[in-house]
Order: sequence, then structure tokens, then C-alpha cells
Amino acid sequence: MKKEITYLDRNEYNYGPAPEIGEVLKNFDPNKLCFYTRIYDEGKKSILSDYISELYGIPEKQVILGYGGEDILKQVVHCFLAGGTKQKTLLIPKFSWWYYKSIADEVNGRTIFYPLFEEGNTFKYDIQSIRESVEKEKPEMVLMASPNNPTGNSLTKEELHEILSFIPRETVIVIDEAYASFANKDTSYIKPLIEEFPNLLIIRTLSKFYGLPGLRLGFAFMGADLSVFLNYSTKYLGYNRITEEIGVAVFKASDYYQHIADLMAEDRELYMKELNVLDGFKVYKSEANFILVKYPIAMKAKLQEALKAKGLIVKFMNEEDINTHMRITLGTQKQNRLVIDTIKEVMLNSK
Ligand SMILES: Cc1ncc(COP(=O)(O)O)c(C=O)c1O
Repeated sequence: MKKEITYLDRNEYNYGPAPEIGEVLKNFDPNKLCFYTRIYDEGKKSILSDYISELYGIPEKQVILGYGGEDILKQVVHCFLAGGTKQKTLLIPKFSWWYYKSIADEVNGRTIFYPLFEEGNTFKYDIQSIRESVEKEKPEMVLMASPNNPTGNSLTKEELHEILSFIPRETVIVIDEAYASFANKDTSYIKPLIEEFPNLLIIRTLSKFYGLPGLRLGFAFMGADLSVFLNYSTKYLGYNRITEEIGVAVFKASDYYQHIADLMAEDRELYMKELNVLDGFKVYKSEANFILVKYPIAMKAKLQEALKAKGLIVKFMNEEDINTHMRITLGTQKQNRLVIDTIKEVMLNSK
């Protein structure tokens, strides 16, 4: 019999989709695929951008859609960092998603890292360092992720506001909020923020809280100064008509997803309680669907082997200064229990 593999390495979703999504697929009229969307005649991009506009109270013109958050990130970096006679600069957090630097490299952008520092059981943005880097490097773009991957910490409203206030208006600011719905149910701050900071782009996705990474659907809200990006990004002939219908259904099924996010919050606590007491372990506070765990490096091979033997795939980090850590996606409560028990067993047997 083929061994069942549990993937807990890419922050995917082990709980399955909301039942409403199956309904959309069952009832989808394939004739719709024979035509481009007609909402274009109303000057709108998609029934989904229109729906998101209503939901967040933000004009449809300021809603961007993409093939996952990944696509919007890549597009915005390419749009503002490519070309010109002088190499352009992107600031990103030191510990962050490897992809940010890679997309800047694609267009010969210069990436400068600003530090995050460890405080107690969390990482924090170093606001003073960001300010100094902005003043020294004069970047074309500053990127923050909140919550950040892989550290799991997010910026408070006040911290975010402080940072946005000292970044010059000609610099594009991108906030990657792929995991934000786990940290904060309230989204009412987005509208005033993009109004106050017209150089701001806030990117979200259906891949994490809404658990549909395979759908490839991301969305973003942009401030009015970024209309160059709107033109760069908008698809003249519309968007995938199945995807946009699923997208609308997903937002309507928020209760299902909130319930699962609540289970994940319980399991974050469980990880803290169970693993923090093990010698050499430290579980960081996370506001996302994964947790970062520091472990004794001497145990790496044994932990890898034991988890693998149970079919559990987690991410052992290799990046500089964060290479004695593993990032574990929160799975179902049963899967999380198995990960914890497996780790505890390895540590117990090593005594
Ligand atoms: C920090 C961060 N941003 C964005 C994404 C993009 O996800 P997607 O392209 O599936 O929306 C990911 C995926 O892992 C991520 O970790």
C-alpha cells in the first residue's frame, strides 16, 4: 500500500474546501467558457474584482486580480524595478519569502535586506533600521510582509502607520498580506490606508486563509498613485470565468474558513505548550497558518528521519541565521498531534 504523505512544508491546506465550492463546480454553466466576460462593458475587470470592491468598500478600479499573490508580487516588482539606466532598489526583510529577491533578480533589481530582530518568543520589524535604509538606499520599492513568512510575526497598525509615514511618496510600498486573515478579521483599515498612502499596494490571496492554493487566485488593493501598475496588470479580455465564480463563493463561505482558523489557533497554542518544554526547542509566536520552531541542530537528521518515516513533510530551513529552525504548516488537529508526538518521541529516545 502506498504510504500517505502529509505535506506541511508549503503552507497549504489540509482541511479541504468549503462545500460551497463543490456546488459552484457542479452548477457551473460551461457555455460561459465560450465567451469573454461582459462586465468589461461596465468598465470593470471581473465579477470577482467587483465583488471584492463591494466587500472591502474600495473602488473596483483600485482592486487588482492575479494568478495568486505570487503573480501580483512579480508583476509589481517587474513594473517598477525593470528598465532605466540606473539599477533600481528593493528593500525586503532579512528573513522573508525567498521569492522576493528572486523576482527582483529577474529584472536586474538590487535587493537590500533590512533586519528583523528576535524579542522574547517573536520576531519584530526594526523600524529604525527600515528608516535608515530608506534614507540611505533611496529605494524604488519597500516590501513588508505581515504576517511574515517564515517568522510568523506581524506589524501592529501603529507600527505600520509609523513606517508608511516616513517612506517618501515616490517610493512604491508593497505589503504582502498573504496570511493577514489569520492575524486580524478586521479589514476596515485597508481603505483609509490606501487613501492616506496613494503609493501603497496591499496584496492578499485565496491560498492561505481560504485554503485554495491550487486555484491560483490573488487580489490586491492599490493607492491612486499606482495607476501605471493598474494598466500594466489588467487583463483586457477578462479573467478565468470558473475561477472568478469560485472566488465569490469562497468569500461567502467565510464562516467555514474562520472556524478552521480557530482550530489552527488552538493548535498554535498546543505546539507552544508541547514543544517549548523540550530541551533546545523554541516555538515562536505565529499569526499565520504555520509555526517556526527552533530545534537542537544536532538532532536534525534524527528529526528528519522520524518525520519522514511517518509521512510528515515539514520545511527544515537552510537560510543564514535561521538554519536551526523548521517551519511547520498547521495541518488538521490529528496531523498536528502526530507531528508533536513524533518530535517528542525522538527527543525522549535521545536521552
Ligand atoms: C509570504 C507569501 N506571500 C505570498 C505567497 C503567495 O501565495 P499564492 O501565490 O499562492 O497566492 C506565499 C506562498 O507561500 C507566501 O508565503
